[in-house]
Amino acid sequence: MLRILEEEKMKITNIIGSPRKNSKSCEIAAAFCNTAEKNGAVINSYKLNEMNFSGCQGCYGCKRDKNYCVIKDDLQEVIEKISETDALVISTPIYIWDVPGQVKCFIDRLYSFKDSDWKTKLSDGKKVIFVQTQGREEGMFKNVSEKYEQIMKTLGFSEVHIIRACNFVNPNKEGSI
Ligand SMILES: Cc1cc2nc3c(=O)[nH]c(=O)nc-3n(C[C@H](O)[C@H](O)[C@H](O)COP(=O)(O)O)c2cc1C
Repeated sequence: MLRILEEEKMKITNIIGSPRKNSKSCEIAAAFCNTAEKNGAVINSYKLNEMNFSGCQGCYGCKRDKNYCVIKDDLQEVIEKISETDALVISTPIYIWDVPGQVKCFIDRLYSFKDSDWKTKLSDGKKVIFVQTQGREEGMFKNVSEKYEQIMKTLGFSEVHIIRACNFVNPNKEGSI
């Protein structure tokens, strides 16, 4: 798995989906990013919970011109960065059987990677590493990572790799706000 991020001079965008300090999902993603960095990768990390952005407004501005999302908020730079990146790391906990709202809002905005003919604007070969943590056992919520794998492929990413860490639930030990 680490080999995915070990190609030389990769550009990596690291999206941190957990709002928590000392987040497990963030820690796992950071381990991959640190290894990649040692191999010369350039990492841009963004913690969604510390950014100001809205959900998709359904304006279809991304289908009308050559730009990506037309909403001028903190995600505009991130979306631009992802379009230039070799690998996108998304780390997220499960909240109520899915990703947290912050992560869903972010993913909705990636709709702007599709043009008006439903073709991807992304260049070939981009990779996604999807890190999912959860309180429940392994048998639960496999379908969530599988769903996001399909979504990322539909948006135009070539490869999606899933990492799951299960049975992590002890808020007092794991971190605080
Ligand atoms: C609001 C909320 C909802 C949660 N819902 C679920 C859930 O539906 N299923 C589950 O297995 N864990 C659930 N959890 C537990 C987290 O997914 C789990 O603790 C995870 O390891 C946290 O990851 P993090 O340390 O990266 O934030 C929930 C936690 C919170 C705070």
